[in-house]
Amino acid sequence: MLDQRTKELINSTIPALKDRGEEITKVFYHKLFKRYPEVKGMFDMEKQANGTQPKALALAVLNAARNIENLDRIAASINSIAKVHVNLGVKPEHYPLVGECLLAAIKEVLNPTDEVLEAWAKGYGIIADYYINVESKLINA
Ligand code: HEM
Repeated sequence: MLDQRTKELINSTIPALKDRGEEITKVFYHKLFKRYPEVKGMFDMEKQANGTQPKALALAVLNAARNIENLDRIAASINSIAKVHVNLGVKPEHYPLVGECLLAAIKEVLNPTDEVLEAWAKGYGIIADYYINVESKLINA
């Protein structure tokens, strides 16, 4: 569970994320593929080139941030993304790599305070755990 202050800090960054979400995800992918080239093979580079995938990730992160208090509300959308992940071989151990690069991208683009970054680290942890749980149920179904 997230404390009130963390939720407020996450909520306070939603407008900035909305405005610069695509830029953040582009920086994010750049970092992810540079730091962890081993995950690159799972991604469709055509989608990277035309910006479809950066847009989808930005929207999903934004949607999760808006519903951080009750991710069950967006279970249908998370479920369909989870199916794509499972089919492409996304594993629980990939989530910290994505989290690290996402936070680094938020830091680079928005230059937020340390407190905001820590709030996002906690928020990402909640969102990642939710996805990992849905994906493990799909795998074991
Ligand atoms: C909470 C974290 C994450 C969110 C919000 C997220 C969101 C998304 C979204 C919205 C899509 C598009 C789904 C569609 O096409 O309908 C997607 C696809 C994908 N995701 Fe994630 N994802 C997350 C974590 C990860 C992780 C940890 C990996 C593994 C490194 C990953 C790898 C992929 C891949 C390979 C695709 C297919 C898209 C392509 O071919 O470029 N995702 N994700």
